[in-house]
Amino acid sequence: MARRLKLGVLISGRGSNLQALIDAAAAGDWPAEIALVVSNKADAAGLARAEAAGIPTCVLSHRGHPDRASFDATMTAALVAAGVDLVCLAGFMRLLSPEFVEAWHDRLINIHPSLLPSFRGLHAHEQALEAGVRFTGCTVHFVRAEMDDGPIIVQAAVPVLQDDTAETLAARVLQAEHRCYPQAVRWIAEGRVRISGARALVADAPANEDFLVSPG
Ligand code: GRF
Repeated sequence: MARRLKLGVLISGRGSNLQALIDAAAAGDWPAEIALVVSNKADAAGLARAEAAGIPTCVLSHRGHPDRASFDATMTAALVAAGVDLVCLAGFMRLLSPEFVEAWHDRLINIHPSLLPSFRGLHAHEQALEAGVRFTGCTVHFVRAEMDDGPIIVQAAVPVLQDDTAETLAARVLQAEHRCYPQAVRWIAEGRVRISGARALVADAPANEDFLVSPG
């Protein structure tokens, strides 16, 4: 196989999306590998997932860094030293400096648990329940300076059920996240994603013309 794209995955917690990427990499025909996992929390459960898979990890504390830009510069140095091509945010709960976003322009992606541009920021599931939407989902997108903004690579829609709580809805969306994130990375690694203005275009993307109805 041609050289695999090297990923740096940034986490702060549970790391189930990291696990989805680890599992994809283990499957063999996935054109990417995880070169480094960075956490800003020493107790992030995702670190154990990386260690179990033999992936190098790095814990960086904001303590000892005078400001956000210097923390992010340390992070960039670690990612560059690991030979990272593409940075994947996977539940990384720190705001990024404009310098970091610029340094990794078009090489930095995020997964967000809503159909962006709806329900940006924290508590996306609570926002969806509050708004009474019949569908929500997840979005993988390139990162831009604005939070939860940037060219969309892939989205998955899931129904919102009438008796959903934030927890039951999050669990349904999470299953979709675990499919979408490895898929988006695959398309980028295969060189099939081109950015055109505010849009990301995926070459030879399978068309899905189905529609869903909810309730229904
Ligand atoms: C996911 O819901 C992701 O969409 C959001 O943060 C959560 C991280 O979960 N950005 P995990 O740590 O990957 O399990």
